[in-house]
Amino acid sequence: MRLMKAAVFFFLVPTLTPALDPLSTSVFMGGAAVVWQLLSPHSWLKCSLLECCNMKDTLNLSVIKVDLERKVFGQHLAIQIVLRALSANMYSKRPRKPLVMSFHGWTGTGKSFVSSIIAKNLYQLNIPRRRFVHHFSTVLHFPHLSHVHLYKEQLQNWIKGNVSACPRSLFIFSEMDQMPHGLIDSIMPFLGYHEEIDGVYYGKAIFLFL
Ligand SMILES: *[C@@H]1O[C@H](CO)[C@@H](O)[C@H](O)[C@H]1NC(C)=O
Ligand SMILES: *[C@@H]1O[C@H](CO)[C@@H](O)[C@H](O)[C@H]1NC(C)=O
Repeated sequence: MRLMKAAVFFFLVPTLTPALDPLSTSVFMGGAAVVWQLLSPHSWLKCSLLECCNMKDTLNLSVIKVDLERKVFGQHLAIQIVLRALSANMYSKRPRKPLVMSFHGWTGTGKSFVSSIIAKNLYQLNIPRRRFVHHFSTVLHFPHLSHVHLYKEQLQNWIKGNVSACPRSLFIFSEMDQMPHGLIDSIMPFLGYHEEIDGVYYGKAIFLFL
């Protein structure tokens, strides 16, 4: 789409500037088109050359389904629910709330397979996906009960900062059973129905609790 616009721009302008010779006009316009592509936040060129949030929803549900069925055994119902939730959020242009999924009662491996399959499939391969996938391990990131106030503030700032940089950010929280009391409450406002909070739109974010 962007590329098409750039091409139209490129072809129209030389006809409006007949005084310049055709070669320098097209070189100039080509340069302008490149600059214009680089300046627009999610242009095709910028995303290919520089790191950028993968705003294209490239999720291929049939690939995810095959992946899940191959690696997660005996969880047909759970797989169906996960796929339905993913597709509802993915194919909505502007979801009103982020996708929040909480997995209970599985063995550790099954749960982490699901989240890693989603993470792997959510972003384009050529863009380093770890920038958009945020894994918080209770044991590693929030080990001290006495620091819960600090953690709350940190977590809110991280989520807000990352979602403003990339609306389609994935947050994975593991070892939920050991999560300090009250920490998840501090991010509840981000998970509910809201258009925007302080100018940040959370509808495309994904939160997985393991
Ligand atoms: C999803 O992936 C499968 C297998 O790679 C491919 O055949 C299919 O066309 C893809 N679907 C979409 C919507 O890209
Ligand atoms: C995004 O989250 C990471 C933790 O995964 C954090 O270190 C980083 O500071 C956050 N970025 C912003 C812009 O808040």
